[in-house]
Amino acid sequence: MKRKVLSALLIAAMTVATVGCGGGSQPTADADASAETEAPAEDAAADDAEAPTEDTAADGTADAASGDLITVGYAQVGAESDWRTANTESFKSTFTEENGYKLIFDDAQQKQENQIKAIRSFIQQEVDYIVVAPVVETGWETVLEEAKEAGIPVILSDRMMDVSDDTLFEAWVGGNFVKEGETCGDWLAKYLEEQGRGEEEINMVTIQGTIGASAQVGRTEGMANKLAEHSNWKMLEMQSGEFTQAKGQEVMESFLKSYDDIDVVICENDNEAFGAIDAIKAAGKTCGPEGDIIVVSFDSVKAAFESMIAGDLNATFECNPLHGPRVAEIIQKLEAGETVDKIQYVDEAYFDTSMDLESILAERAY
Ligand code: AHR
Repeated sequence: MKRKVLSALLIAAMTVATVGCGGGSQPTADADASAETEAPAEDAAADDAEAPTEDTAADGTADAASGDLITVGYAQVGAESDWRTANTESFKSTFTEENGYKLIFDDAQQKQENQIKAIRSFIQQEVDYIVVAPVVETGWETVLEEAKEAGIPVILSDRMMDVSDDTLFEAWVGGNFVKEGETCGDWLAKYLEEQGRGEEEINMVTIQGTIGASAQVGRTEGMANKLAEHSNWKMLEMQSGEFTQAKGQEVMESFLKSYDDIDVVICENDNEAFGAIDAIKAAGKTCGPEGDIIVVSFDSVKAAFESMIAGDLNATFECNPLHGPRVAEIIQKLEAGETVDKIQYVDEAYFDTSMDLESILAERAY
């Protein structure tokens, strides 16, 4: 394995504020700090994501050895959402040659088997670090053992892996998905109370994320914890929208055919909410603060602010995707022989239509 030392200048450029800062209802300081390191290039990232180029292909044929650069293989989930696009861009703009890295990027198109193939390819190429945003939580032991055998440190980012031996990875950095779900439930209770509907029977449906993904498991669990506190809340049905707008729309269409009394739709990411809103409107119903159906979602991407400003979406619960600099900080510490915190949660906020959304959107990095 190659081990290289970066100049102090590069380290300073890459190091970001310590993970974790105040939650609540305003953008976090962490998000702002990361914003400064991110060039907004959503369109470019979206275009790149599905089309591997010579330096992004993880086909095992390219030689990853590249002078004094630290080689990082990133096994990305896919390009299913605006959040994912921002996450990809965060890695691509952080792990540049200018910053002392060679990035080998692989888009798994939401398939675990593709991610396992990519990790094996990274091992073959003798990369210095493997970073994985796992599609689902289970089924990783064998390939992680292979990486350990090869002496390649693995860092997890965004979603978690459920492994019995936690020495199989160095560290994980991401959002607290259970807390996001609970924050959503608490927000809903307060909102309904303010509407004078605190005691009313409330019918809900959930458009879940990819089943088995940490973001789905945690958000569903967090919301279930809050459902248990409100005997007047009824979950009519939950179905996966696979974190995509198209599937979110499809699932909402089927919910609307089955139930004519939906009060709340919980979408486990913003893109599913955009699809759900289209389905609600197509069915001749209204949504948002002035509408028939309350719509809430997770991520807090720019388009979610536009949707709230348009009066369609009620609230969005933040999941910060800017993990590139955070993973770079972990790598720099490992390079320096320092210990790193095994589990690193990023503090996250929430946003609703009672806030000055135009001003927040103007400062938003993703
Ligand atoms: O794991 C994070 C989730 O994955 C985001 O909520 C979603 O948009 C993405 O697809």
